[in-house]
Amino acid sequence: MNKKKIFLIAGARPNFMKIAPLYHALKNKSWADTLIIHTGQHYDHNLSQSFFDDLGLPPADINLNIGSGTHAVQIAGIMVAFEKLIMQSRPDLVIVVGDINSTMACSITAKKCNITIAHLEAGLRSFDMNMPEEINRIVTDALSDILWTPSPDADQNLRNEGKNNNSIIRVGNIMIDSIRMMLPKIKAEQTFNKLSLQEKNYGIVTLHRPSNVDKKETLQKICRSLINISKRHTLVFPFHPRTKKRLDQFNLLSPLEKAEGIRLLEPLNYISFMNLILHSQFIITDSGGIQEETTYFKIPCFTLRPNTERPVTITLGSNKLSTPETIEKDIESIDISYYRQRGIPPLWDGNTAGRVVVSINKYLSKKSKG
Ligand code: UD1
Repeated sequence: MNKKKIFLIAGARPNFMKIAPLYHALKNKSWADTLIIHTGQHYDHNLSQSFFDDLGLPPADINLNIGSGTHAVQIAGIMVAFEKLIMQSRPDLVIVVGDINSTMACSITAKKCNITIAHLEAGLRSFDMNMPEEINRIVTDALSDILWTPSPDADQNLRNEGKNNNSIIRVGNIMIDSIRMMLPKIKAEQTFNKLSLQEKNYGIVTLHRPSNVDKKETLQKICRSLINISKRHTLVFPFHPRTKKRLDQFNLLSPLEKAEGIRLLEPLNYISFMNLILHSQFIITDSGGIQEETTYFKIPCFTLRPNTERPVTITLGSNKLSTPETIEKDIESIDISYYRQRGIPPLWDGNTAGRVVVSINKYLSKKSKG
């Protein structure tokens, strides 16, 4: 097979740990010329470059430098810039990951230019169309030629949407590859020590979903609960730029700053954050990826959302859905023995990137034979 040009697309924080294992698995393959395309959706050092550094990624080959904006501005900007790039260099395959605006924008653009698309983390559904990510997932999967899924529920969702069985390939969870690849460094990092926290004696909070942070009433309720929880448990809260902006705007920042049990931090780099998770007692979050990372580490995770596109983290793993009204009670009734018995889903084993590479090779070989 001739060398094939592969574009690996990433745009925002949760994408970087999904492309890293795949980049490392592809870089020495004689048949693959792999280029990292960064859309620039996230641009702050601690949401972007620090992840490239931690995960051993080289600088992106091309950065579209799109930056922030409304959904339409961001998506349209990515499409215009990505179309120019595709026209110039006609890749053989575009790989998109996750469910962010960059994922969908690049999928639409590539498909319009008749380029093969593969989606890593296909098939996840929250069935909640108020989530921008759900729209991104559905559109991306509708257009993708290859659908790499992490779990059986994802396969089923795709079949229910009429996808051809041959295009659905269960490869497992790529996030676990990143954890396993970085585990020695994660264990050596000692972030929890540097912050003078005690092993299994603190909780972590991360929030950034529009549904939790964009409405004053909801965010206020959550803040009140966090302050109450912090009277019994130290809470570490690295906050996302969106959340910081809203806390400021709604005058909710100073009560959090005054709460003795709450440690407010800037967003953390990957290795430091994973070290914090590993040694924590519990996590309160609305992130998608953290539901999976806590399942892998068997750490109690309370997801402040009415639904999840990752149900296997509940049925098998250590995740539970919670609400601003019930979160205090949920934290007080954590039963550690329950969490010790929780399982890790099949194929969440650190070998997902290898399975993806086999699948790419098969697909491209078949295509080049015509
Ligand atoms: C995006 C993804 C979300 C993902 C999250 C992880 C979409 C629709 N959402 O949400 O799925 O879970 O990333 O972080 O794609 N900002 C900065 N610096 C940056 C990037 C953003 O200050 O480097 C600010 C922006 O100005 C904006 C806010 O953060 O006010 C939100 O950024 P945006 O990328 O639009 O969405 P996220 O909320 O980060």
